[in-house]
Amino acid sequence: MDFEPNESMRLLRETAREFAEKRLKPGAPEWDEREAIPEEIYREAGELGFFGLSVPEEFGGLGVDALAYAAAMEELARGSAALQVCVTVHNSLVAAAISKHGTDEQKKKYLPKMATGEWIGAYSLSEPGSGTDAGSLSCAAEDKGDHWLVNGAKAWVTNGGFARVYLVFVSTNKEAASRGITCLLVDRDAPGFSVGKKEKKMGLRASDTRELIFQNARVPKSALLGQVGGGFKIAMSQLDSGRIGIAAQAVGIAQAALEEAVSYAKQRRQFGKRLAEFQLTQAKIADMAVGIDAARLLVWRAASILAAGGKCTKEASMAKLFASRMANKACFDALQIHGGNGFVREFPVERLYRDVRVTEIYEGTTEIQSLIVAREVLG
Ligand code: CAA
Repeated sequence: MDFEPNESMRLLRETAREFAEKRLKPGAPEWDEREAIPEEIYREAGELGFFGLSVPEEFGGLGVDALAYAAAMEELARGSAALQVCVTVHNSLVAAAISKHGTDEQKKKYLPKMATGEWIGAYSLSEPGSGTDAGSLSCAAEDKGDHWLVNGAKAWVTNGGFARVYLVFVSTNKEAASRGITCLLVDRDAPGFSVGKKEKKMGLRASDTRELIFQNARVPKSALLGQVGGGFKIAMSQLDSGRIGIAAQAVGIAQAALEEAVSYAKQRRQFGKRLAEFQLTQAKIADMAVGIDAARLLVWRAASILAAGGKCTKEASMAKLFASRMANKACFDALQIHGGNGFVREFPVERLYRDVRVTEIYEGTTEIQSLIVAREVLG
């Protein structure tokens, strides 16, 4: 398998790296404190094309392949995982779903504005009572002839506070379980739809995570994405590519932690020597470097299968499982190298340690990735 970057992948990666280095990394500590990212950063990300990565060129996007996408996602996460999760959910879970399953009208309505970042997308599968067991969701939509009547609540929705379009999975037939799940494209101004409280989180504090409330919400019939009852398959297949974005995020956070650890170990002196001269420090650094490379290769393998039009369920889950575990360990070790300084907010590794935790939880927990891999292997 050849991962030699092509010209467009190299260029995109460089653009993402420069943006991360100059604009994301310096701002990330303050955004974490304020629990918000300034609007100008979203605007700049839009101008650079990051919100249009998964939007086809005919609708104003860059339409890059999955490999270039993964490389860009890693670089953005290296600068700010909070900004990256906004971008990856918008692209891989929402814009890509509309591109793949939308009608011509839906594509024309949403994609050009999503490509620039004027309209941000949110993906809403989880509920207060159904996270991992996604097929048991209870938010329900009734067919009222000329519209859907939606009632229920959704939880942990990334971009929830400022999104313009919400990909919402609802039950249209309780008895049919996951085959009774339908996907609706809900506009922010739908009557009866509102955005709930902003979650106070341990990490990724600058990312906006909300609950959504539907109280006799009226959603037009034209909001149906795909087929009635076909929503669960859309949810799952989008998560295959979404998980590549989260695995790339884990690699980016781990890379940032490694860079912090290396820089600290080279200047901090104890017992008359730099920390980098102690073999116990060197072993930690070596494990991080090996883990990051291995995880990156798994991410790129899954991405290259997707880019070639293949099914990457197993490979995406393998990449997410390995990368998120590796990244949590890398951030743990990077903080350990910092000692007491790693436990205070002045040093970026403290935030990286908090930010990385959720990579083992969202877009499917580590346990669910294990289950998916085992199912694929056992047949
Ligand atoms: N692609 C396409 N179809 C798929 C699929 C995939 N990857 N995986 C399953 N399906 C289909 C199956 O073929 C099956 O179809 P049929 O009914 O025709 O047979 C149907 O979906 C049901 O599949 P399962 O029997 O495998 O379903 P299950 O109830 O056993 O659940 C699961 C499977 C893997 C546990 C799934 O529920 C899951 O992935 N759970 C985790 C949920 C998750 O990742 N949530 C993340 C929320 S989004 C988020 O975090 C975004 C954010 O803000 C950052």
